[in-house]
Amino acid sequence: MDKVDIKAVKFDAEKDLKEAKDLADLVVIERKYLGKGGMIAMVFGTLQDLEKEERGQVGKEANELKGFLEEEIRVKKAAFSSSDFGNKKIDITAPGKKMSLGHLHPITLAIRKAVEIFQGMGFEVVEGPEIENEFYNFDALNVPADHPARDLWDTFWLKDQKMLLRTHMSPVQARYMEENKPPLRIIAPGKVFRYEATDASHDFEFYQIEGLMVDKTISVANFKAIMEEFFSRFFNKKIKIRLRPSFFPFVEPGFEVDMSCLTCGGKGCPACKRTGWLEVMGAGMVHPNVYKACGLVPRDWQGFAFGMGLDRLAMMKYRINDIRLFRSGNLKFLDQF
Ligand code: DAH
Repeated sequence: MDKVDIKAVKFDAEKDLKEAKDLADLVVIERKYLGKGGMIAMVFGTLQDLEKEERGQVGKEANELKGFLEEEIRVKKAAFSSSDFGNKKIDITAPGKKMSLGHLHPITLAIRKAVEIFQGMGFEVVEGPEIENEFYNFDALNVPADHPARDLWDTFWLKDQKMLLRTHMSPVQARYMEENKPPLRIIAPGKVFRYEATDASHDFEFYQIEGLMVDKTISVANFKAIMEEFFSRFFNKKIKIRLRPSFFPFVEPGFEVDMSCLTCGGKGCPACKRTGWLEVMGAGMVHPNVYKACGLVPRDWQGFAFGMGLDRLAMMKYRINDIRLFRSGNLKFLDQF
């Protein structure tokens, strides 16, 4: 075989590489120079016919060219595959990929709505601890140790027996009144806990909003007006409420509060068991013993307190039939909000 001019091979290879437009061109070039029976293999094929000295020289040059081409092809291949331009065309008119956005939990939506309405009526939002002590959860609220009312709020006690997971948001009343003298108008939304079995309308963890308004002459009439306004704005329809006598140790008198049925407006339907009313919360006029526990003189003050379950409100607003769905982590449920 004739002697191969390595310089000429290199010259051709560089020209081919320069003209390569895509990965397919590179594959052809690779085969032409580095493949079996390619130009480099041909050069090596001629070595045996050469004089010893020349063989060394040509062999060295051929090896250098081989290394050079391998590197050039590797670099070009990488460049072509990192930009799409080598292989495909980009359709710049194609629609973009939609970003998936997160959203708020239905309970968060309900809390925000409630807070917005109460703030509009001059109520301040306050907080308290989820791990509460016995004094604020019970004693300060006129529920002494061994009082049977403690059974209504069976809870999770922590190891030292003085601390517990709060069973309601009412302790915030006592905490707030200890630090702030009336007149006052507060709400406290937050998570509460009960030691009990779960079903479609009970969970061991849920949310409440507690409210408290105290001044010299705050009356049940003020309470009724404020709650009718709240419910009407929360549910976006005219709502009436009614009060039924009931017992809660921290109020006197105490009442159970019903609102007119969302479905039938009060006429009576299956949703309200034909009564026209739905039970929504407990409330009453703050008990003198609660003022005393907070260092206030009961005779000086008069006001109302109320507590309602936020999960229930959200269930009514969004027509959800199982309270456990809120904490299920079920995306089929959550993605609807
Ligand atoms: N704390 C009560 C509960 O969790 C609800 C409640 C009833 C709160 C009457 C009040 C009230 O402020 O006056 O069941």
